[in-house]
Amino acid sequence: MHPTEPEMSRIPDDKLTEYSHRVKGKVLVITGAAAGIGRQTALLFASYGAKVVIGDLNPDAAQAVVDEIEKAGGTAASIKCNVVKFEEQVDMFEFAIKKYGSVDIVVPNAGITETAKFMTPVLENGRPKQPKTTTLDVNLTGVLWTAHLAVHYLFINKQPSDDLKSLIFIGTPSSD
Ligand SMILES: NC(=O)c1ccc[n+]([C@@H]2O[C@H](COP(=O)([O-])OP(=O)(O)OC[C@H]3O[C@@H](n4cnc5c(N)ncnc54)[C@H](O)[C@@H]3O)[C@@H](O)[C@H]2O)c1
Repeated sequence: MHPTEPEMSRIPDDKLTEYSHRVKGKVLVITGAAAGIGRQTALLFASYGAKVVIGDLNPDAAQAVVDEIEKAGGTAASIKCNVVKFEEQVDMFEFAIKKYGSVDIVVPNAGITETAKFMTPVLENGRPKQPKTTTLDVNLTGVLWTAHLAVHYLFINKQPSDDLKSLIFIGTPSSD
């Protein structure tokens, strides 16, 4: 961090789960939670009593996370969802509403590392081929579509007594 940059406020580890009781009974919709950061997030929310809906490209691995949550006494369900297919995202939210009646917390987590070697042109018959933009499609468009749909689905069946509606983005700060 540059010395003139304002320091980001940091939550110390021992305070991270201070308000975890607030998610008990709430419905979490999270993408890409069959593995990695999303899986750990789903397990953590479930351990605090949230009902977890996982939308992931890999339905078998997503179901394994659901099984793990249920074995520990939690509540979860999964549906196959490729976040770059808008209709599959709509299906994921509709599934959550049908299954648990509402959506309270949304985490657009699905993400991939750069695969396309975007700045390495590939030639075909001497002409550059159109590069793939898969990383942008998943990490940007997919995330924006989840956020767009959250704005609609977080308010379906909302009760006046509902005290928590959240849209949570996950990011990694640059090490520069
Ligand atoms: N793990 C780290 O330490 C770390 C550090 C910095 C940045 N990141 C970034 O965070 C993101 C996630 O990292 P991770 O380690 O949890 O990855 P991961 O590969 O372990 O998990 C990603 C999950 O997203 C799912 N997924 C991938 N494409 C999808 C799609 N189109 N639709 C739905 N689900 C899809 C996968 O099936 C998988 O379950 C990546 O963009 C990664 O580059 C990770």
